[in-house]
Amino acid sequence: MARDYLSVDDLSPEELAGLLDLSAKVKATPEDYSARLRGKSVALIFEKPSTRTRVSFEVAVTSSGGHPIVLSSSELQLGRGETIEDTGRTLSRYVDAIVLRTFEQERLELLAGAASVPVINALSDFEHPCQCLADLLTIGERKGELAGRTLTYLGDGNNVTHSLLLGCTKAGMRVRVATPPGFEPIPQVVHRASEIAGATGGAVETLNDPLAAAVGADVLYTDVWASMGQEAEADERALVFPIYQLNQRVVDRAREDVIVLHCLPAHRGQEITDDVIDGPHSAVWDQAENRMHTQKALLLFLLGLA
Ligand code: CP
Ligand code: NVA
Repeated sequence: MARDYLSVDDLSPEELAGLLDLSAKVKATPEDYSARLRGKSVALIFEKPSTRTRVSFEVAVTSSGGHPIVLSSSELQLGRGETIEDTGRTLSRYVDAIVLRTFEQERLELLAGAASVPVINALSDFEHPCQCLADLLTIGERKGELAGRTLTYLGDGNNVTHSLLLGCTKAGMRVRVATPPGFEPIPQVVHRASEIAGATGGAVETLNDPLAAAVGADVLYTDVWASMGQEAEADERALVFPIYQLNQRVVDRAREDVIVLHCLPAHRGQEITDDVIDGPHSAVWDQAENRMHTQKALLLFLLGLA
């Protein structure tokens, strides 16, 4: 059975820590890993747009000596109705791993069930587990020990929030999520994150007051108010979310040495202000870079080549 990465919850706390250590090594000495994927091909399928995920995976594979094949669903037979399962069965005969960005999490599960090679979630409506690896590596670089740190997320309780809830608690962190009423992360994820926190010494709190949530935070995090697939709701959401904007007023409530993260792309002037994303607390460009290192480490881990 191939090992998949569809959710942050697919990793034990020990595996997550090991993967972050490997990511740091891959980043520090890329030359040691330059041939690690020699002879390996990785299919990258995108059913939604992408800048960072697409380019960072493609470069991660190439710079490890492997061959990435980037595909959009419209150019695959998927676009003409071939099933995701048959696509997985076929691709498994050619490639060593499949990376998929899609809508429903169920599509990833169907693909993983049919494929005989590792399947990686490159973002679904439910989770963004590759993003969370880069987020944790970045927090570790800036703050050292992850356990006991507080991350405050402001905005929509979305795919990125779900992965942060699961990943940060796995690392022993405290996560506070402040959303407008009705935009909370889904209760099953909050419940599971609380369960994880109970075992690791982390904590989970969901609230509606953004300024109260920011007090004492080591990390402030936000994401777009309308995710891919929710474009039709964007105007309506823009009326509800402004008080959750990550601006200087919020930064002033957090710890003096707070770092600011955003998975990007940012809608400047909406969920985050220019002065904050471009300001001294921002770590967003390191965070974006770390997508590449963590995904390289993830591929090595899943393929047993670490
Ligand atoms: N953060 C992230 O996944 O960016 P892309 O949508 O550009 O891949
Ligand atoms: N929540 C955002 C993340 C983009 C990387 C979306 O799904 O569009």
